[in-house]
Amino acid sequence: DSAISQTPKYLVTQIGKEESLKCNQNLGHDAMYWYKQDSKKLLKIMFIYNNKELILNETVPNRFSPESPDKTHLNLHIESLELGDSAVYFCASS
Ligand SMILES: *[C@@H]1O[C@H](CO)[C@@H](O)[C@H](O)[C@H]1NC(C)=O
Repeated sequence: DSAISQTPKYLVTQIGKEESLKCNQNLGHDAMYWYKQDSKKLLKIMFIYNNKELILNETVPNRFSPESPDKTHLNLHIESLELGDSAVYFCASS
């Protein structure tokens, strides 16, 4: 199947913990994106990767470590979780 998927779909965790959000696509795309939608429903771009390389970082705190082992995966590791990290995170590719 051609698809993009995020795991986990839902995550309940605790302040101070460390978590990972994974995203992979098999659409043949070179670019991958993570967006954050906060409690005010505003969608903000966090990171853009192209061919495993970071090309945009809208000043995301360094508690967030993106990792792109190959161009089909873009994982987001988050440490020292804060209340403000509670959001809907969207991965996309193009
Ligand atoms: C993103 O930018 C912020 C602010 O410049 C920096 O502290 C952080 O380390 C950067 N993250 C990555 C993955 O480059």
